Amino acid sequence: MRIEGKYTQSIWYDPELDTVKIVDQTRLPHDLVLLDLESLQDACMAIASMQVRGAPLIGVTAAYGVYLGLREEAAGLESIIQQLATTRPTAVNLSWALNRCRQVLQEYTGDERVLKALELAQILEKEDIAVCEGIGDQGANLLEALWEQKQEGQDRLNVLTHCNAGSLATVDWGTALAVIYKAADRGIPVHVWVDETRPRNQGAAITCWELAQQGIPHTLIVDNAGGHLMQHGQVDAVLVGADRTTARGDVCNKIGTYLKALAARDNDIPFYVAFPLSTFDLSIEDGLNEIPIEERNAGEILQVSGLTDEGAAATVNIAPANTRASNYGFDVTPARLVSRLITEVGVCEATPEAIAVLVGNRGG
Ligand code: MRU
Repeated sequence: MRIEGKYTQSIWYDPELDTVKIVDQTRLPHDLVLLDLESLQDACMAIASMQVRGAPLIGVTAAYGVYLGLREEAAGLESIIQQLATTRPTAVNLSWALNRCRQVLQEYTGDERVLKALELAQILEKEDIAVCEGIGDQGANLLEALWEQKQEGQDRLNVLTHCNAGSLATVDWGTALAVIYKAADRGIPVHVWVDETRPRNQGAAITCWELAQQGIPHTLIVDNAGGHLMQHGQVDAVLVGADRTTARGDVCNKIGTYLKALAARDNDIPFYVAFPLSTFDLSIEDGLNEIPIEERNAGEILQVSGLTDEGAAATVNIAPANTRASNYGFDVTPARLVSRLITEVGVCEATPEAIAVLVGNRGG
């Protein structure tokens, strides 16, 4: 991704300092702050506090966390993995990355294990970039086909997205936004409706910032506006990421995604979900009852933070004192509402049969 015109990733290893650099996403969009992760504790904090967030980026950060932890205690592999595994419950990419670390690193001890851990985290980082670029290419075919159908009387292709499934949710490219970037590279005039994505406003703060940095036309809307826009022919496709997709194609993503899928279905608008194969949890079928849904601090709902016109950071209360609030982080969109799943190895329908074929074909 370009940040202020320079190529930047969301995470990378700094060999001079022997630290892991991240973009602190809690400071966006007002301040671009890079942080150095120097310990297991730093990595756990970065994930739990959402300095890094987004399913694929959580996985890569965890792999670097394993390296930082082993540097402190090379014999502590299992306890390091356990500490990282409890930082956030919903995105399956976290346990996917940790399982990969366990599988490789249990074969080694001492300094060799530490070196291998760094090597593996760097491999996962590079893989994530390639995989996300592949998702972008696969999904751009769908948007291209849609644009060919729509072109008459229309000067732009309107895509609605929720939360941030962009470069900042991965190492680079993103998932849903990779599709947008690749479509724009092909000359399709994409315009993005960005849901603000309460309570943490990843849409307003992160997606708008990221799209502006890449020069993609976009408009911020409140979370409840999507249905209205769909009813008035202002949305050609809904395109979101995923934190976990089950064997039958149920999709867990940021809270509010389900309502967009319902509105899309009612208005006959395609609802696309883009994610890497590592976001599949093929051990479960029923997303509604089997995916742990993160519940976060009620303060995220009861307060809003931002900058005043004078540039001072401010947090204000928006509900009466002592109001009780429930803060569910994710919801599940049933497979029947999903038009297509987009992965790095291809696009398929959200059915058990199509998913089995897609996953069976990986690498083949
Ligand atoms: O709570 P977050 O910001 O980690 O939630 C992120 C999302 O819901 C994304 O849509 C999802 O992780 C896909 S990221 C490519």
